[in-house]
Amino acid sequence: MRDVFVVSAARTPVGKRNGYLREWVPAELLGHVLDEVVDRVDVDPALVEDVINGTVYQVGEQGFTLARMGIFASKLPNDVPGTSINRQCGSSLTAIQMAYGMIASETQDVIIASGCEIMSKYPIGSDMGGTLPDGRPQGQAFGEFYFKRLAGGAMYNQGQAAQAIGEKWGISRLDCEEFALASHTNAHNATVNGYFKEEILPTKGLDKEGNEITMDADETIRPETSLEKLAALNPALGTEWITAGISSPVTDGSSAVLLMSEEKVKELNLTPLVRIKANAVVGCDPVLMLTGPIYATPKALDKANLTIDDIDLFEVNEAFAPIPLAWAKELNAPMDKLNVNGGAMALGHPVGNSGSRLTVTAIHELIRREAKYALVTLCTGGAMAPATIFERV
Ligand SMILES: CC(C)(COP(=O)(O)OP(=O)(O)OC[C@H]1O[C@@H](n2cnc3c(N)ncnc32)[C@H](O)[C@@H]1OP(=O)(O)O)[C@@H](O)C(=O)NCCC(=O)NCCS
Repeated sequence: MRDVFVVSAARTPVGKRNGYLREWVPAELLGHVLDEVVDRVDVDPALVEDVINGTVYQVGEQGFTLARMGIFASKLPNDVPGTSINRQCGSSLTAIQMAYGMIASETQDVIIASGCEIMSKYPIGSDMGGTLPDGRPQGQAFGEFYFKRLAGGAMYNQGQAAQAIGEKWGISRLDCEEFALASHTNAHNATVNGYFKEEILPTKGLDKEGNEITMDADETIRPETSLEKLAALNPALGTEWITAGISSPVTDGSSAVLLMSEEKVKELNLTPLVRIKANAVVGCDPVLMLTGPIYATPKALDKANLTIDDIDLFEVNEAFAPIPLAWAKELNAPMDKLNVNGGAMALGHPVGNSGSRLTVTAIHELIRREAKYALVTLCTGGAMAPATIFERV
């Protein structure tokens, strides 16, 4: 296997539900970031051999094969192919892992891995249900076979799973609210200090009145939040204590990374940002569902021959506050290295986009800090988790 490098990484600011990105056609938003990652390093778009894109709700404008549509909406030529994949919230980290595999195995040299999701248009569950042309119901992905796997356990929604995880790992609502407050504070500080400047691609959108604006910062950060405000929120998602404040908000966004073989990096005389050190992916208990990062992390560390103490930065997706908190407790991970510029509670979680968004953020923070290793991992619906370790070079 040969080394694989990321040479460029960029993302749109995250837009809140029905916020500034609301009118974007997903293919055009994706095309916008595909262009950016090739432009940033002045690479001929014709050199790209594939686009592997993560999108969860592959319906409507996000349907067909969004990666291919994104290519048509970009400056990449017609002979660049694309594929869209779905590992739920881990989709675009899986896209990166798949691109790694193709390059490491000498199958290809230059691939863009990306993520794109406009949840304002295609909310959670929009790929399930619906009606067939003859009027019959389309059916459900979760059949009898799935319920057998629950072995008598409940079928939780994701909020209920998050609460069950919190209870199992002894995490209280207050612990979660303190963590959410820190997420917003850190994201706000990173924004005002310009830490996201390098990674964010300023993107046109619409303000509340419908006037065109250019956004260069994430729309979901709440610098005005407080423990008192968080404590006043009502439980959501049929739970006893999971509120909007300790959940990731429904959001829109797109991001991409340009990956290359060492030979290509040298041939094009580029300076890589990071090397991919190790990849892992796990499936886990479908009842608790969101515990995957707890198992994917040691697996990735083993593959990299590293320990948790070797990692400088962790991006563990804040789908809900109990997920990274249980992960940190179980693995005895240092909280001061976790989601240092805020996580999805503040920065949003456009599901298929998040793996790539977290990667873009981790890479730029590694460079800013001149640190060595970042580990990115996300829990997913359907009980899985990818994890990847990046090494600054
Ligand atoms: C939890 C959830 C149902 C809440 O939905 P919602 O009530 O529409 O949530 P919103 O984010 O719009 O927040 C509603 C209100 O709560 C309050 N609020 C939310 N977060 C807050 C915070 N951190 N501080 C203070 N107030 C807050 C605000 O008043 C907000 O209204 P505003 O946006 O007009 O200011 C929704 O965010 C959700 O489903 N999240 C999880 C998504 C998911 O499952 N992703 C995949 C995970 S694997």
